[in-house]
Amino acid sequence: MIRTLGVMKKWAGRKNNVDGDTHIQLDVASLLHLSPDGSHHASVNEGTMKQYRYIGKDGEFDYEQYRKAQVRANKKKIEWQWTTDPAIKFLAKNIVRILGKSPKHGLCHGTRRGLEQQSFAKHIPGCKVLGTEISDTADQFPHTIQWDFHDVKPEWVGKFDFVYSNSWDHSYDPVKLFSAWMSELRPGGICLLEHTRSQWRVSESDPLGMTVKQLTMLLKNLGYNVIEIIKDGPKVGQCWKEEGFETVYLVIKRK
Ligand SMILES: C[S@@+](CC[C@H](N)C(=O)[O-])C[C@H]1O[C@@H](n2cnc3c(N)ncnc32)[C@H](O)[C@@H]1O
Repeated sequence: MIRTLGVMKKWAGRKNNVDGDTHIQLDVASLLHLSPDGSHHASVNEGTMKQYRYIGKDGEFDYEQYRKAQVRANKKKIEWQWTTDPAIKFLAKNIVRILGKSPKHGLCHGTRRGLEQQSFAKHIPGCKVLGTEISDTADQFPHTIQWDFHDVKPEWVGKFDFVYSNSWDHSYDPVKLFSAWMSELRPGGICLLEHTRSQWRVSESDPLGMTVKQLTMLLKNLGYNVIEIIKDGPKVGQCWKEEGFETVYLVIKRK
């Protein structure tokens, strides 16, 4: 059992993935049992999300295995840039539109080369933007700290006008992850999650796989306020494919 979430074992089915490793397919609804106040019920079955399993010799979740896999992949792809300045400019405009004013503090999670925090700061004058990155390459890039985005620094609680990430699919525990990210927002602040088509796949380096529909349903059923799904932004991922990939952004507002 690799998950910190005991209930998953009961619901999980094993399946070989393309690398011959095992991952679990989770009934999205099963996660809803994990809601902190117990008020969310497994009423909707929207198929299976996927979660790669990092299993230690003792059969339990092995955090070091997770961390090392992320750092290895980060270093292998250190020259790659997924999001782009036009995509962040598009998001910056949307953030100002939704908030009704210019944000002062932003936090970006899983930033590798740190382009997103630099672009947000450029397109929202006066906004301070920090990025997290689990790899020790973090210190090579401005406004980036080496930090696991599942954890919250005490000084971040309730601080940020917006949180942005295209790296949510690198999570070993989405319930813990979204709880952490939502706690970092001030009341009325917004979290923006980028979703591209490929993010339903899983591998050792990209352990969480969900469609937009599954991600939206999971967030809603965990009690989060998904207020908008933004489409028609600039394509991203030119490091993979010259013309890039279409992407959508889920906007979640802290009540
Ligand atoms: C798909 S890349 C995206 C990088 C960047 N946002 C971009 O658009 O190019 C995911 C990044 O998240 C980092 N990462 C993975 N797990 C993380 C974690 N738990 N905490 C912080 N960063 C993490 C990886 O090292 C990698 O650099």
